Amino acid sequence: MIMGKLKEATREQHENLESIVDVMNKMFNRDDYKTLLTKFYRFYSTVEPLVAINDMKAAGLDLDARRKSHLLEADLNALGSSDEAARIKGTWSGAPTIDTTAKAFGVCYVMEGATLGGQVIMRHLKQHLDITTENGGSFFNSYGERVGPMWKEFIAITTAFAETANADDEIVESAKRTFDSFANCFAESATATA
Ligand code: HEM
Repeated sequence: MIMGKLKEATREQHENLESIVDVMNKMFNRDDYKTLLTKFYRFYSTVEPLVAINDMKAAGLDLDARRKSHLLEADLNALGSSDEAARIKGTWSGAPTIDTTAKAFGVCYVMEGATLGGQVIMRHLKQHLDITTENGGSFFNSYGERVGPMWKEFIAITTAFAETANADDEIVESAKRTFDSFANCFAESATATA
């Protein structure tokens, strides 16, 4: 059962990330939020284009409907950070290697799973910073009320692929490397470009 293995193998990394992505902190302000978005953008705008969209389509996953870089870009524009977004686009030098479809599924697991915390984060942003989907919160809103169905679909496609390709270990290893890559990207200064 690939999904159970993924969750178990990355539980600790997720817990660490929740404390690094310190968005639920009461002291978290609008500038902190902009910095947070630039870090997410740096990661997503580098990693998303590295996933072979046609190979994923062949495996049943339509990534066109799951892209998120443009949401981050729109949020940074809404918050007046468009210059910063242009400067850091695609500059994350520590992206995971994605040279097989199995590795791509591990990467997508991390990026799709990140939508699950979005609802909680959105409530917090609205309450404390008056940020909504329309004025800078479209990334964390992601699929809105379709977050659940989109995740269920992702589970079904990933499970089918893993069974056919017999690729559990490769998917799990890739997910772990992706969590590491994300954490490293966060540890870098928001203004770093290499
Ligand atoms: C403050 C930040 C975060 C919060 C509050 C949060 C919260 C959550 C929640 C509530 C779930 C659902 C757990 C469940 O239904 O069992 C979840 C799952 C998940 N999150 Fe996060 N998350 C955060 C950050 C992130 C980030 C930055 C990433 C990746 C870049 C991430 C990746 C995942 C993944 C992959 C899952 C799926 C776990 C599974 O296999 O069921 N999360 N998160």
